[in-house]
Parts: sequence; C-alpha cells; structure tokens
Amino acid sequence: MKIAPSMLSCDFSKMGEEIIRMDKAGADYMHLDVMDGAFVPNITFGAPVIKAVRGLTEVPFDVHLMIDNPLNYIDDFADAGADIITFHVEAKSDIKATIDKIKSRGVKAGLVIKPDTPAKTVYPYLKDIYMVLIMTVEPGFGGQSFMENMLPKVSDIRREAERQGVSITIEADGGINESTIGKCAEAGIDICVSGTGVFKAENAKNAIDRLKAF
Ligand code: DX5
Ligand code: ZN
Repeated sequence: MKIAPSMLSCDFSKMGEEIIRMDKAGADYMHLDVMDGAFVPNITFGAPVIKAVRGLTEVPFDVHLMIDNPLNYIDDFADAGADIITFHVEAKSDIKATIDKIKSRGVKAGLVIKPDTPAKTVYPYLKDIYMVLIMTVEPGFGGQSFMENMLPKVSDIRREAERQGVSITIEADGGINESTIGKCAEAGIDICVSGTGVFKAENAKNAIDRLKAF
C-alpha cells in the first residue's frame, strides 16, 4: 500500500520539519488538506503555506481541496507546486472545466466524493482524471472513525473504469490506521491517507512501514 501522511495532524509550529520527518519516514505522498471554512466547517492553510514547504522534499504533493470554488484557485495551487490536485464533486465549480484547468497546468487531476455521495457521480469523468479519492469520514477534521461501508465504492468504480477501458488510481482518506488499513487493501485501494495514524504514533517510520506492509 502507498501511504500519504495527512499534514493536518502535524505540528504546525514546525511544518517544514514535519515534512522532512515524513520524507525520512518513507511517505509516498504528502497529503495536504486545504479547507475554506465554507465547504467544510474548518479552516486550514492555502497555497502560500504549501509553496513555503514544497522545496523541502521531492515527495509528490497530493493537495486535497475542500473548498467551495476550486476552479478559482487551481493556478495558485499549481504555482505552489502541487503534483496532484483533488477537488470535490459536491463543490460549486464546473467539474469538467476544473479538471481541464488542472491538467492544463501539468498537474494530475482527481475527484473526491463525500460519504453520502454515490460512486456513480464520478463515472462521467473517469476517462479524464488520474485519481478518485473516496472519503471514509465526513471531510473537515482528522481523528474520526473509519466508515467501512464506503469500501464497496471501490469495486463499483473499478468495474466502471474497466467497462470504459480506462485505468484509475483510487485513494481513501479518513480514519485509516493499522486496524482499518487491511480492509482498504482487500478492497483494492492504491493509496491510503493517514493523519493521526502516522502523526500520533511514537515512531512515524515504524508506523508507515507497518501501514505499507498491507
Ligand atoms: C479530513 C481530511 C483527512 C484527515 C485524515 O477532512 O481530508 O485527510 O486529515 O486524518 P485521519 O487519518 O486522522 O482521519
Ligand atoms: Zn484529505
């Protein structure tokens, strides 16, 4: 399993050091949760903060936008050095226009679905995107409980991708730790985000190694 530590759970007083710590601990991606206080009831950080830490590692930046109008900010996050930008199908921006904008900047595009959003909402875009991110908690906060009943979405999306003859990367986000990652692996997830699972561990490298083993 590929592991993307969620920087939402890092010590923000030393975010740069935390990025380097996750790099050394073997992170496959850095997952950066951008929240605007409108799409979700929480505010985190934006493109300037991502830009400030981008130069500290070569590990790809997986930027998860939980914002109402992603289309308006794609240039900012591309300029900040995002490698993957995912945004929610439930957001207000035109989905196809936002995907096209992300790709026009040479960045990989992904769509995110909240727990109540059916898998089929991403089907019309599978041929245009690199990744689908399935939320396994309600977006907004770290440290919530994993929703196992989201996992059937994985096989639904795989089946539809196969029918369309396209390949797709599937990521899961929320409540993933040593006790829940096995189910994600069985379901066929490619990348697991883990915030508290990695940052609250005594030793991040051991935690990531154990998660990667699934
Ligand atoms: C939730 C974020 C997640 C979150 C994961 O809105 O998208 O990335 O930080 O944190 P844990 O692993 O603690 O659920
Ligand atoms: Zn996230």
